[in-house]
Amino acid sequence: MKIAMVGSGYVGLVSGACFADFGHDVVCIDKDPAKIAALRAGVMPIYEPGLADLVGSNVRGGRLDFTTDLPSGIEGAAAIFIAVGTPSRRGDGHADLSYVHAVAREVAQHIKTPVVIVTKSTVPVGTGDAVEQIIAEAGPAARFAVASNPEFLREGAAIGDFKRPDRIVIGTDDPWAREVMAEIYRPLFLNKAPILFTSRRSSELIKYAANAFLATKITFINEIADLCEVVGADVQDVAHGIGMDNRIGGKFLHAGPGYGGSCFPKDTLALLKTAEDYDSPMRIVEAVVKVNDTRKRAMGRKVIEAMARHLGQPASALRGRRVALLGLTFKPNTDDMRDAPSITIAQTLIDAGLTVAAYDPEGMETARALMPEVTMAKSAYEALEGADAMVIATEWDAFRALDLERVRGLLRTPVIVDLRNVYSTQQVASFGFSYHGIGRN
Ligand code: UGA
Repeated sequence: MKIAMVGSGYVGLVSGACFADFGHDVVCIDKDPAKIAALRAGVMPIYEPGLADLVGSNVRGGRLDFTTDLPSGIEGAAAIFIAVGTPSRRGDGHADLSYVHAVAREVAQHIKTPVVIVTKSTVPVGTGDAVEQIIAEAGPAARFAVASNPEFLREGAAIGDFKRPDRIVIGTDDPWAREVMAEIYRPLFLNKAPILFTSRRSSELIKYAANAFLATKITFINEIADLCEVVGADVQDVAHGIGMDNRIGGKFLHAGPGYGGSCFPKDTLALLKTAEDYDSPMRIVEAVVKVNDTRKRAMGRKVIEAMARHLGQPASALRGRRVALLGLTFKPNTDDMRDAPSITIAQTLIDAGLTVAAYDPEGMETARALMPEVTMAKSAYEALEGADAMVIATEWDAFRALDLERVRGLLRTPVIVDLRNVYSTQQVASFGFSYHGIGRN
């Protein structure tokens, strides 16, 4: 089956490569000639474990191709996926649909054979209707249907998520479009991946509701963590204890410095905009967004307080002290810095007159532009040299088994603020550190 993927960013590329791996004939299309040239040369525009190999083997197998030319790319396709960005519109948080609409307009001019147009981009409820209208107005001679098929891929684990999904959601009332979509996903269907057919609007909302719920779960456990610190409980035990209830589930209950990334912050805001537009308030999500925003800065203050307490000095006396910030990306196994808590944490420290030396295995190139006042080190140990605190902001594997003896020797002041609870109090106690995790004493 021929599939065209319009937009070769994160979602388009991963989805396109996985569809090709199922045996479909896939063309990934993008307007950016440099990106397409790089992809043709086997160079990935993003860091995602396993992606380069997957793309390489499918290109060699003749199932995956890249082009900037949309008319030839979509020719003869049974399905055209729209996988372009829907960033937050500057000023109001609405999802910016201009790229989605532009693709619909361009596609409409070149449809010659029956085709299902599938929105994979995260789009507000009703976008499918708009796409349908745009295409219908252009009046293609051929038959078409518009379906919604949201993605649930986590960065860093996207290929596994695509190939072993918890569910596949397909939103369309058109029986023919359902058939085409079922055929596309048949390889997963055979693997017993649950497939849910819904209306297009329900499908569009499932995506936002899922992300908002996950963001709520994280924010909930983060507030429980704050309470744990005050009352002398351990958030990891509490999370474990509540997670054992199947109705709650143990996943996404890791307390930390607040969620970041390209999805939760953007999608929660867009959902709130939809709620506002339809005059159907979502106060829980409103609170989640606010709590998460405040939390990032509070994490910077937590570091300052930990240092001040250890040194027995007021926070104002810490000017000129140095913090080693380990981990900059919003989570491990990605080079994505979008809305990473590290950005706010570093800024809070700098605002308080401290200096910051940072290290991240993949994110430093992007981070350099976002945090010009931060010194980038070549390794975790280089960042630690002469620092007055070690702060773990992202739980990269490389930080899970640091040589604590060496860390102790490198730090000028033995303070560890572990914002991801990578270490345990017992583990670090014998090395003489002042240790501060999240939601633990
Ligand atoms: C998220 C969803 O998990 C995917 O299902 C969805 O497809 C994707 O958004 C999207 O909409 O495209 P992603 O943003 O890649 O995926 O990352 P997550 O693994 O969900 O993590 C998001 C943030 O939450 C990170 O900052 C992470 O550190 C934080 N987090 C996650 C926690 O603080 N605690 C947790 O228990 C889990």
